[in-house]
Amino acid sequence: MADNAADDLKTLEAQGLAELHGCADEAALRGWNTRFFGDKGLVKAALGKLSTIPKDQRGPYGKEVNRVKEDLTGAYDAALAEAKDKALQASLTANPLDVTLPGRSRPRGRLHPATQILRQIYAIFADLGFQVYRTREVETDELNFECLNMPAHHPARDMWDTFFTTTPGVVLRTHTSPGQIHVMREAAGKPIRVILPGMCYRNEAISTRSEIQFYQVEGLVIGEGVTMADLKGTITAFARRMFGPERQVRIRSSYFPFTEPSIEVDIDWPADDPNRDRLTKGTGWLEILGAGMVHPNVLRAGGYDPDKVTGFAFGMGPQRMLMLKHAIDDIRLFWQNDLRFLRQF
Ligand code: DAH
Repeated sequence: MADNAADDLKTLEAQGLAELHGCADEAALRGWNTRFFGDKGLVKAALGKLSTIPKDQRGPYGKEVNRVKEDLTGAYDAALAEAKDKALQASLTANPLDVTLPGRSRPRGRLHPATQILRQIYAIFADLGFQVYRTREVETDELNFECLNMPAHHPARDMWDTFFTTTPGVVLRTHTSPGQIHVMREAAGKPIRVILPGMCYRNEAISTRSEIQFYQVEGLVIGEGVTMADLKGTITAFARRMFGPERQVRIRSSYFPFTEPSIEVDIDWPADDPNRDRLTKGTGWLEILGAGMVHPNVLRAGGYDPDKVTGFAFGMGPQRMLMLKHAIDDIRLFWQNDLRFLRQF
């Protein structure tokens, strides 16, 4: 091999290694790589020279140029790996990671207390063999009142301050009781054992005890030989499960147009609660539901024959139950969305 060609390769190798070691970082190394190994790079040029070398010296030249190429490639790969490692170490020391720091906590959502009490009610009645049935919140006057034994102008309608819609004969349901008619018409003569939960609306002056919207859970049982004893047994079993055996259950007679006879059921307010008198109007009791034996006219409106079957019904206030359980003193707290209240449940 001609000496000058061999010298050129030695110079190329030495220059390459020297410049490589002068590179301070990854970017400089990449620049070096282009200068030596790019399309117009020095190594390419040295390879291209092969055709100008006399035939008999081509073999040794080719061998040598390949050796130089491999030497530089190996050196470059090693330098690049080292530069990357250095950069990583530098960034780790610059932004140290403290693995002992506590993690960021994720705020957890929860069910609204009203939803929680509804689910407890469903669970208890599920154990008693009741199905959950939902009906509409916008009702006809016919189902909300007439089918429940309250024709137009019946004075009992005064018990429900009603929101009327702009469509004549269509109201926001004032109670879940019209659901009884829906269920009866769908069950079409078969025995019934359901609860009907849902939102109700009343045109009330809002106070600590009254809201314009609230939940109710209606219950309806129809079959042959259903009696008041079944009603009392069901309600007492329910109250025991919901409030525990220590709490008192009081059943007293009452009046509703859609039941005969009718009762109301109270639970004693916790004796040690300072708000007891105010919230129970001095009686110590809070009413949780109205109930009774389904009136024959209501059975007829639902398509049942009162000579063949009897039934009982009830309508309970889940939010009142929650107030009783936790001595909550203001029903308005439920829909105010104040997290300080909601987070307690
Ligand atoms: N619907 C009544 C109300 O909102 C509650 C009620 C009373 C429901 C007696 C009933 C019942 O099913 O039998 O005040």
